[in-house]
Amino acid sequence: MREKLKVCIIYDTKRGSTERIVEWMKEGLMGAGISADLKKVDRVDNFDYDFFIIGSPIYWEKPLKSVVNFLSENKDKFKGKKVAIFVVCLAKLFGHFTERHVKNHYLKPLEEKVSGSLIKSGVFKGWLKKPSYSEKKNVIKWIREMVQERKRLSQ
Ligand SMILES: Cc1cc2nc3c(=O)[nH]c(=O)nc-3n(C[C@H](O)[C@H](O)[C@H](O)COP(=O)(O)O)c2cc1C
Repeated sequence: MREKLKVCIIYDTKRGSTERIVEWMKEGLMGAGISADLKKVDRVDNFDYDFFIIGSPIYWEKPLKSVVNFLSENKDKFKGKKVAIFVVCLAKLFGHFTERHVKNHYLKPLEEKVSGSLIKSGVFKGWLKKPSYSEKKNVIKWIREMVQERKRLSQ
């Protein structure tokens, strides 16, 4: 029997929406029979996973320093590991008008710090007060695709 994939989702948040989004990811994985550990960026004490999903909300045009620094400081630990990146922001509301901006300013600072092999990056619509429940299906679709891709790479 093939061993189960060990997934760790690492994130930070200021106002809680990224935390809600990673809970949706966990729920989506559970529905696919995969369990995932959720870890705030300052609580990561173990790198014994097959797959890391690392994300940050965007504040003032940048991902949080805590997440960028975490990636820099742990470069060695991610070598040879598979990683996916995501950001949570409001720019997503403006659709393809902001796509290039999001790629260059929001995702790139995280992507360029990934020392392992980057499978894919995702962008999710955040919120200020009321959760954007319509984003849940996108989050679940993304995470399931991600895991399929991760599994395909180990075949
Ligand atoms: C002070 C402030 C600055 C923000 N700056 C940006 C920004 O530059 N670009 C963007 O797309 N969203 C921006 N946002 C929206 C946040 O990315 C969004 O609310 C996100 O869901 C916050 O994540 P969190 O609840 O996990 O902290 C900003 C929000 C606040 C409150």
